[in-house]
Amino acid sequence: MSPETYVLLRHAHRTFATLSILGFTARWLGVMSMQPWTQQRVAKTLPHIIDTLLLLSALAMAWGAGFTPENAPWMTAKIVLLLVYIGLGVVALRPMQPRKRRAIAGVAGILVFAHIVAIALTKQPLGYFARLV
Ligand code: HEM
Repeated sequence: MSPETYVLLRHAHRTFATLSILGFTARWLGVMSMQPWTQQRVAKTLPHIIDTLLLLSALAMAWGAGFTPENAPWMTAKIVLLLVYIGLGVVALRPMQPRKRRAIAGVAGILVFAHIVAIALTKQPLGYFARLV
């Protein structure tokens, strides 16, 4: 993969990550305040498209740069935490879940997302916490 393609993919990946957390936060606040737009089809399908593109751009970069779980443990941590972020999103955004549980899942989702970004920037599974150990 050419360096130009890699840089382009990383820009795309960063953009999808930004869209993902903006969408998550907007829908979470919308569901918490019972906004009808959160139940519209586009509000439910668009996040899946963005998260799929986020993952595809990640896999393409990993393939292009030859990252594997062995030589890049930070990437494994990101994949696991992406699944955690998706799971917390399911709880935070389901109107039938108790309100308190949705509130906690929403805050936890945003914190997990922030840690994934910290892993991306530090290339450490512990992110900025690695400085403490
Ligand atoms: C919510 C999920 C994710 C977020 C928020 C996220 C965020 C980011 C950010 C902000 C960067 C740019 C770092 C920089 O500018 O130096 C990045 C890079 C990258 N991410 Fe992700 N990412 C996510 C998921 C994933 C997953 C699941 C993988 C692995 C399959 C992955 C693999 C990569 C790779 C390979 C890079 C490029 C590293 C480099 O060349 O510096 N990301 N990610």
